[in-house]
Amino acid sequence: MAKAVYPGSFDPITYGHLDVIERAAAVFEEVNMAVVVNPNKNPLFSLAERVELLHACTSHLTNVTITQFEGLLVKYVEDRGAQVIIKGLRAISDFEYEFQMALMNRKQNPNIETLFMMTSSKYSYLSSSLAKEVLRLGGCVRDLVPPLVEERMRRAIMGADAR
Ligand code: PNS
Repeated sequence: MAKAVYPGSFDPITYGHLDVIERAAAVFEEVNMAVVVNPNKNPLFSLAERVELLHACTSHLTNVTITQFEGLLVKYVEDRGAQVIIKGLRAISDFEYEFQMALMNRKQNPNIETLFMMTSSKYSYLSSSLAKEVLRLGGCVRDLVPPLVEERMRRAIMGADAR
């Protein structure tokens, strides 16, 4: 059975990410969630916080590991001895950019395959960015992120007194 890497910013992890990782963990020997060290975006959570939340939210999955990575993704995947990159697809709108990245990654290393997994349709509209925006604007994120993540988001966005 192959080993896979599921890369991302995970700022923070959502139920959409969890849905993908649970599907991937059922198929692969090991799935490594690799948190990118320097996402292009200005992250809400530090690298250590993002990693900690991933650990907490995936503790029920025995073949999921959490690490961080920096630099070229395919180099990281190869160094780790994995053969597959997992990407979650929510909607057609994700496809064009993901297609471009998959082909560029293949150009860099033809031995590594990108595999797209469809999220459950109930999470097809969900992204970390939208969840942060909704919470910032006073909306409800209960069905979007695990309770611990919601608590940390409230603290990060609204300050220590937030409930
Ligand atoms: O969760 P995100 O922010 O959509 O994840 C993006 C990520 C980390 C998958 C992407 O930025 C990435 O692959 N970064 C590593 C740098 C790299 O290899 N770039 C070339 C990709 S074609």
